[in-house]
Amino acid sequence: MDERLDPWGSVEVADYERLMKKFGIESAVKYQKKFNDLIYFRRGIIFGHRDFGRIADAIENRKRFAMMTGMMPSGTFHLGHKMVADEIIWFQKKKADIFICAADIESYLMRDMPLDKARKIAIEEYLTNYVALGLKPENVTFWFQSDYKKEYYRLCDIAAKEVTFNELKGIYGELTNGKIISALKQVGDILHPQLKEFGGPRPVVVPVGTDQDPHLRLSRDISSRLQGFNMIPPSATYHKLMSGLQGGKMSSSKPDSYISLSGNPKTESKKVLSAKTGGRATLEEQKKLGGIPEQCVVYEMCFYHLVEDDKELEEMRSDCKSGKLLCGECKKKCSEKLEKFLAEHQKKRVEAGKIVEKILKQK
Ligand code: TRP
Ligand code: SF4
Repeated sequence: MDERLDPWGSVEVADYERLMKKFGIESAVKYQKKFNDLIYFRRGIIFGHRDFGRIADAIENRKRFAMMTGMMPSGTFHLGHKMVADEIIWFQKKKADIFICAADIESYLMRDMPLDKARKIAIEEYLTNYVALGLKPENVTFWFQSDYKKEYYRLCDIAAKEVTFNELKGIYGELTNGKIISALKQVGDILHPQLKEFGGPRPVVVPVGTDQDPHLRLSRDISSRLQGFNMIPPSATYHKLMSGLQGGKMSSSKPDSYISLSGNPKTESKKVLSAKTGGRATLEEQKKLGGIPEQCVVYEMCFYHLVEDDKELEEMRSDCKSGKLLCGECKKKCSEKLEKFLAEHQKKRVEAGKIVEKILKQK
C-alpha cells in the first residue's frame, strides 16, 4: 500500500498496531513498568520506540546520553505540546544533555511564517512554557535553525550526499525545495549532538509524535552511511496525539480545539464545559447505560494531563461507565482542576523570564 506519514500534513492514526508493523516501530510496553515515573510511559501514551534499549541502558547505568527534539513555531503552546515538554524535562532529570531546536526555517519554508515572528513565538510560547513546566537551564542547548554554529550547517550539507532524490521521494512523496531543506535541517538537528564540537558520539533519543517518524528514518539511515563520524543511529520514542476538544486534531489554528497554556486560565478552562464527551443523549440513558470514557475528550484530558493518581483516574473511569458520574458534574470538576493548574502555571510563566534569558545566552 502506498501510504505515508506526512510530517507537514495532518496525521491521524486510527490503528497504531498497523503503523508499527508497517514502519518497524517497536512496542514500548516493556518500558511501562520500568519507567513508570513518567505518566506517558506508564499509561502507554508513549506506545512505540526505535532503539530505546540504548537509552534505557544509559539511564540505568548512568552512561552519557543526549535528548534532542524540536518544534516548529506555529502559534500558541497548548496541551498537545505539553507532552514533548514533559518528556524533555523527564530526560533532563535522567541526566541527559538537552538539545532543543526552534525550527524557524521550517516554519518559514513550510508555513509562511516570518522569521522574526517565529523567533518570538519560539521564545514566548515554547521556551517560556518549557521553563514554567520545569526545564532547568543546566546542560540545555537551545538554538534557532536560522542562527547556529557552522559545524551544524556543515553537517546539514554533508548529509545531503548520503541520500538520493528518489529515496527522499520514497519517504516524503512529492517534494518541494522547502521539504528537502526542512528534512535535511532536521537531520542536522538530530545528528549534530554527536559531532565532537557538541559532545561526540553517544546515544541520542528523540521524543516526538508519530508524524515525525519519516525524519527519524532518514536520520538513522544517514547516520549509518556517514563515514568518519562514528555516529550511533539515534533512538526515538513516539507518543500518541491528544484529540482536540471537539474530537479531531488539537491544532494551533483552531482555538476551539485546544487549551492554551499561555492563555487566561478562566477562559481556557471554560472550554472544557463544551468539549465532546462520551456521554449519552439523555440523563436517564446515561444513568442506565453509563458513559463511554474511551470516546470522551474530558476523560482523555485527565488521562494525559490532569489526573496523576492512577486510583483517582480508575475511579473516574468506573464511575463514568456505571452511570454514577454524570457529564455535567464531571466536566465541572475537570474544568476546575484545569483552572487551578493553569493559574499556577501562569505564575511560573511570569517567573520564567530570567531562566529563559539564561538559556538563550548559553547557546
Ligand atoms: N519538524 C518538527 C515539527 O514539525 C520540528 C523539529 C525540527 C524537530 N527539528 C527537529 C523535531 C528535530 C524533532 C527533532 O514540529
Ligand atoms: Fe466523559 Fe465524564 Fe461524561 Fe464520562 S462522565 S463521558 S468521563 S465527561
